[in-house]
Amino acid sequence: MPETLQEQLVKHLADVHSIEEQALLQMRIAPRMAGDPELAGAFREHITETEDHERLVRGRLEAQAAEPSKVKDVVARAGGVGMVLFARSQPDTPGKLVAHAYSYEHMELAAYELLGIVARRADDAQTAEVAGSIREQEAAMAGRLAAGFDRAVDASLRDVTTGDVSKQLGRYLSDAHAIESQALQLLQQGQAIAGEPDLRKVFEEHLEETRSQRAAVEARLAARDERPSRVKDVVLRIGGFNLGGFFGAQPDTPAKLAGFAFAFEHLEVAAYEQLMRVARRTGDDETARLAERILGEERAAAAALRAQFEPAMEAALAQQGVTPSG
Ligand SMILES: [Fe+2]
Ligand SMILES: [Fe+2]
Ligand SMILES: [Fe+2]
Repeated sequence: MPETLQEQLVKHLADVHSIEEQALLQMRIAPRMAGDPELAGAFREHITETEDHERLVRGRLEAQAAEPSKVKDVVARAGGVGMVLFARSQPDTPGKLVAHAYSYEHMELAAYELLGIVARRADDAQTAEVAGSIREQEAAMAGRLAAGFDRAVDASLRDVTTGDVSKQLGRYLSDAHAIESQALQLLQQGQAIAGEPDLRKVFEEHLEETRSQRAAVEARLAARDERPSRVKDVVLRIGGFNLGGFFGAQPDTPAKLAGFAFAFEHLEVAAYEQLMRVARRTGDDETARLAERILGEERAAAAALRAQFEPAMEAALAQQGVTPSG
């Protein structure tokens, strides 16, 4: 059914509102799990910002809606989804927490960039401005988390004795393998629903790259004599981390898909940042070099996806038969 740009705008506002509600739940719990005072401080600082974001987005939703009661429905439904997802995705170490949060901030960044595109198309300058300023704060938070990768590794390995750090490296490699397996699934699905040739090409190319990344990680696991059963366990553990819920629903449009994949690439970035550090500590130069190489590939894939946000949004609007607002 054809939709107006204004209806699209309300949907995107509802999506980012849901994302902020989920972020708030996470920010309130994160400081206790951080395992490091500076990391805890970074999370605490972002609570106030996240509260501001929620309020600003709610304000724009109310400004858009003819009936405020309908806004309440949208908001309540979104909150429920967030709770379930958070329960499913609880990280178990400071390192996992930081990786998850780093990816989440990039998901928010993507969502606000997409919101800004729709708002400008709908000539809603106020929403476009709100989206731009919140996006900058999400980017800054992601930067603070990136500056904390060393601390996250320290906190995760604090109670591990020297010999055991090598055993831990096996776990980090297994995690990387599990993430690549999930990446393969995501990229295959992405190809199918990309709906736009340039975006599909980004997925195709990174799919090839991901196959060789997974093979390279597998080779390192084999070289270290890690048992496959252990790899499988980790795959299952990370499989519970439901990225599909990040946008409040499955990414059903090319634009959301691009934003979602962008966030996933940053989960990989965070995983390899940590793998690289742990490998260096154990003197496994080969694994450290591999992590560094893949890190560059994940960053490049993320940048290629971000470059598709605008065309993907155009395709998404066209696909849904959006007509100029009225
Ligand atoms: Fe945030
Ligand atoms: Fe990858
Ligand atoms: Fe990737």
